[in-house]
Amino acid sequence: MTKIKRIGILTGGGDCPGLNAAIRGIGKAALFHSDIEVLGILDGYKGLIENRVIQLDLNILSGILTRGGTILGTNNKCSPENYYEGKDANGKPTYTNAVDRCMQTVEEHGIDVLFVIGGDGTFTCTKPLVEAGLRCIGVPKTIDNDIHGTDLTIGFTTATRIGTMALDRLHSTANSHHRVMVCELMGRNAGWLTLASGLASGSDVILIPEIPFTMDKICAFVEERRSKQSGFSIIACAEGAHALHGEPVVSQRVKGSPDPIRLGGIGRQVAHEIERRTGIETRTTTLGHIQRGGEPAATDRVIATTFATAAFERAIEGEFNIMIGLRDGHMESQDILEAANKQRLVPPNHRFVRAARAMRTCFGD
Ligand code: F6P
Repeated sequence: MTKIKRIGILTGGGDCPGLNAAIRGIGKAALFHSDIEVLGILDGYKGLIENRVIQLDLNILSGILTRGGTILGTNNKCSPENYYEGKDANGKPTYTNAVDRCMQTVEEHGIDVLFVIGGDGTFTCTKPLVEAGLRCIGVPKTIDNDIHGTDLTIGFTTATRIGTMALDRLHSTANSHHRVMVCELMGRNAGWLTLASGLASGSDVILIPEIPFTMDKICAFVEERRSKQSGFSIIACAEGAHALHGEPVVSQRVKGSPDPIRLGGIGRQVAHEIERRTGIETRTTTLGHIQRGGEPAATDRVIATTFATAAFERAIEGEFNIMIGLRDGHMESQDILEAANKQRLVPPNHRFVRAARAMRTCFGD
């Protein structure tokens, strides 16, 4: 048993439904355990560097289980080793290594363990902090469900529900107007969200980054469907999906950001190409951040609370610098850096892919 007096909680990377449930889970478990003090770091590593820390008590932690986003705020543009200081005299952005500043905050507040709720980027950022002596525990979250070492991440289930609902709703217009409707979902490198939403909604075509497509295959499939009575097609397309030998479509490059590439636009390109080649009216809907918003589904509340309390238990047992995860139905842990800079992609022969193919879903390959 390790004597812990004060813990810190930080959320990093993009927000997702279930973050507050995880904050509440860690915080309440600690407060109920033996009056351990709980501190919240605001806006991810930025707040750790800038020493923006608040006390979390039962009042603050109550009523947040069902709320989307994160009460702590988050940031995916700032890492301890790459802190934006401002512009120099020539207007050039300047960045510094702020690991020492993070450690000063940790020491000033007497944080014995820092719980980081995040994805691979957030976990990668723990490396210099752990080397400087900080004890961290990772809790995995992302709507992409692509973190190495866990079968499920906080946020994925809710995002899949939203993706499914959107695809279901597109069926009405597709069917009534005999159109092709392309829906672009999030997912830069991993297609889990699009695959699961596509499978759940019975989408006719599913395009994911792991299975490159050709327009010939998609158009032939859509035309075949047109010749049947229904005539319409629904296409679930991940933002990172790309043509065979092609590249993902970049919508913006953000200068100076550790995460500079923003994808977007493949849905529109695919739709344009279908209409051009087949003459079928084809429309695009891009879900964007709608997939990350709103209240968490029950499964996300359950997984967030389970991860949170398991992470806290590990800390009490003296296990640090690990990430908690769910593997084959069991709560497991692994070195936190095992999850860093890695992604859990969809194996092209995964059972979800096979199930969809058995339903005659086209992957464009
Ligand atoms: O990693 C989660 C995610 O929602 C991705 O699916 C998406 O590409 C990215 O974040 C978008 O991030 P941002 O909100 O910073 O543009």
